[in-house]
Amino acid sequence: MKIDTLKSCAAAALIALGAISGAARAEAIHFPAGKATFDARCAVCHQAGGKGQDGLAPPLTAYPGHYAASAQGRHQLPDTVLHGMYGEIRVADKTYNFKMPNFDSLSDDELAQVLNYVVFDLNGSSHGAAKPFTAAEIKAARAKSMDAGAVYAQRAAVTKALGLR
Ligand code: HEC
Repeated sequence: MKIDTLKSCAAAALIALGAISGAARAEAIHFPAGKATFDARCAVCHQAGGKGQDGLAPPLTAYPGHYAASAQGRHQLPDTVLHGMYGEIRVADKTYNFKMPNFDSLSDDELAQVLNYVVFDLNGSSHGAAKPFTAAEIKAARAKSMDAGAVYAQRAAVTKALGLR
């Protein structure tokens, strides 16, 4: 009887601990609105948490942080989501060659938030001291005339400048 009580106490404690660590994980997301957009629009290809899918879509867990942290690379992120991209790319020694659709139908704020989720919630510390994207920054990127081919060419220059391969 006593042992049973102890057992159920232990089980209750474990459940409570699980709930606490679940809450801690939820709190650790800095850009929840961006996560919601990511899960609804991006995860189908890039997978939950941006871990990527071999042969389909690259992981978004390392390069975006480096892009965001550099003056030259920072444009690459809004340009990619606004205009899309295709052509073979290499990310961490794997190649991908499929079409990234454009998401210019999303609002400036939605795009800023989804990029912030990618950069600040999925990229560890590779973003360094990068500032979060703002809706105004997306608006300015939207005003540039650019297409998916130009985004691809720009990526090659950015990855070369940053020493990414
Ligand atoms: C239909 C599948 C698909 C969807 C949906 C998708 N992507 Fe992509 N994404 C790709 C592919 C494929 C590439 C690589 C394109 C290439 O090979 O040129 C890519 C590339 C990228 C890159 C560039 C990575 C790099 O290293 O240069 C970023 C950033 C990105 N996607 C973000 C997003 C975000 C944010 C969303 C949601 C708003 C999204 N993607 C939705 C398929 C997708």
